[in-house]
Amino acid sequence: MSNIKIAPSILAADFTRLGEEIGAVLKGGAEYIHVDVMDGRFVPNISIGVPVVQSIRKSFPDAFLDVHLMIDKPIRYVETFCRAGASHLTFHVEADAPENITAALEKTRAMGVRTGLSVKPGTAAAALEPWLEALDMVLVMTVEPGFGGQKFMADMMPKVTQLRRMLDGANPGCDLEVDGGVDAHTAPIVLEAGANVLVAGSAVFGREDYAAVIRSLRGR
Ligand code: DX5
Ligand code: ZN
Repeated sequence: MSNIKIAPSILAADFTRLGEEIGAVLKGGAEYIHVDVMDGRFVPNISIGVPVVQSIRKSFPDAFLDVHLMIDKPIRYVETFCRAGASHLTFHVEADAPENITAALEKTRAMGVRTGLSVKPGTAAAALEPWLEALDMVLVMTVEPGFGGQKFMADMMPKVTQLRRMLDGANPGCDLEVDGGVDAHTAPIVLEAGANVLVAGSAVFGREDYAAVIRSLRGR
């Protein structure tokens, strides 16, 4: 697949050296910077938020900031994250009532920011059906959201393939992203299933050579 994009998740970065870390993965060939926002409510963990997105945008004006919102009722923060400099916002379909998800997507688009929707491991592909045509990205979780460094759930691959087929009909240009436990061993499985955007946290940060890991995720 030629449109593979690698999205290192800064959740696994050394936050005391965040600028250097981001500079290094961009230099190493990463297309997206994946920013995991957690509220301690939608998921049992708290991570980073608006000020971090703001700082990254300031230091990296051209970086694609792929912001993954693991927060309840995300519509409350759409404007703030868009203004902070997000390039893309992904919401969880489980995070609010359908009409509020629709409103959050519309609000994001109106601010000129790309949109995505995500499903947790227990949520079926069909839950995304009403929105598929309108999205820039679909995100399939291959771990329970909340923490980095968890084991890849290979049993999510049929859902990835199903969504690829659904998108081939409804929205062929849509990115299909997989997040959780992606490394050089699991990446080929994910690509084979039909995804084209790979999030990787612990497989990238803290490693010796970021460019080499990023290449290996692409299968090269
Ligand atoms: C989990 C996050 C992931 C996480 C991935 O809730 O959404 O982006 O950082 O980390 P690894 O690649 O270590 O599984
Ligand atoms: Zn994520």
